[in-house]
Amino acid sequence: MSGRDLKEEMVVTPWRVSGEVDYGKLIEQFGTQPITEELLKRLKKHAGYLHIQLKRQIFFSHRDLDWWLDMYEAEKPVGLYTGRGPSGPVHLGHLLPWFFTKYLQDAFNAHLYFQMTDDEKFLIHDNLTLEDTTGYMYENTLDLIACGLDAEKTHVISDVNHISHLYRLSLQVGKLVTYSTIKAIFGLSDSDNIGIIFFPAIQATPCFIQSVREKRNVAVLIPAAIDQDPYWRMTRDIAEKLGFYKPAQMHAKFLPGLGRRGKMSASMPETAIFTVDPPEVAAKKIMTAYTGGRPTVREQKEHGGDPSICTVYAYCYYLFEEDDKKLTELERECRAGTIICGDCKARLAEKVKRFLIEFQEKREKARDIVDQFFIK
Ligand code: TYM
Repeated sequence: MSGRDLKEEMVVTPWRVSGEVDYGKLIEQFGTQPITEELLKRLKKHAGYLHIQLKRQIFFSHRDLDWWLDMYEAEKPVGLYTGRGPSGPVHLGHLLPWFFTKYLQDAFNAHLYFQMTDDEKFLIHDNLTLEDTTGYMYENTLDLIACGLDAEKTHVISDVNHISHLYRLSLQVGKLVTYSTIKAIFGLSDSDNIGIIFFPAIQATPCFIQSVREKRNVAVLIPAAIDQDPYWRMTRDIAEKLGFYKPAQMHAKFLPGLGRRGKMSASMPETAIFTVDPPEVAAKKIMTAYTGGRPTVREQKEHGGDPSICTVYAYCYYLFEEDDKKLTELERECRAGTIICGDCKARLAEKVKRFLIEFQEKREKARDIVDQFFIK
């Protein structure tokens, strides 16, 4: 590892995540709160069980979750909002917050507004046309549906196709946010195109759309990875000026890529598993994943491996080994050197293949019902 590698600064913004992410530091930097035992108890009480992403602290931070739960407990209207920037196929990292959103939708019987920012991805990627991003929007909606969300209660908004649902409200948001705020929050420069300057107002708008449609103030919770937080800081500043509640947030950690470090990202396709990957291709990617193993089998048996830096272990932790006892056993075996990386990868590859086969079936079936999910 070079000295430069070691010192690579942590950067977490909606458009870039790099360096070693220190989640404790992000809580301080972003001014959010850790998810406490007490909040976990309250969530468990309403959902009937603790989601794997809660018990493993994958959702680790929040803003105003306590207030949102107070509102629910006081029988006030509550809603959910999350989204996707359709710049390509969906990978497993994107699915994490959507699986969790499904848990919240079921537990709180809440409407979900789901924004597809096919405008944002057109504006920030030089190589993508509007046909590309709206095409991915459609395909990515199939992934969302395959996560099991409720058609009656899920409203997918394609910015490009459904802007009339947002535009009046976006203008009101946009008028309250200055260019210097946007520049400071998102790090825009003079050479960025003017489309992207207004875009944050568009991403803020679905925080309020349910309130407008239902003509009453709805308390909204946004489950997403922490990279999206800058939008909510901006939105929280102006919400009350428009007569709405500030949206609450729950922040997730990033599913790592299969490489040595960094989050799973579509820009590194060889280290990402896409939901549309043929299962055999995904299995091959896993067989070449970065692990915490020793260079030789002999050394592995003698000294054991290090699950804390192993992507294969991380995949079990985040998604593919729900059984806590089995996970602890895997960690023990790895540290003791009684399991070698090849076997461990092969086990995970099998699980991922099975997962993809089932998911792809659901994804195909979603084509028949996709229209029910778009906002009316
Ligand atoms: P996008 O498409 O970058 O990401 C979609 C969702 O996936 C999360 N995410 C990850 N979660 C875990 N591990 C990863 N490796 C990983 N990579 C991405 C993101 O945090 C996000 O929740 N501008 C947004 C689209 C959007 C949105 C929203 C997202 C519009 N409104 C409201 C969340 C909430 C975007 O490009 O997301």
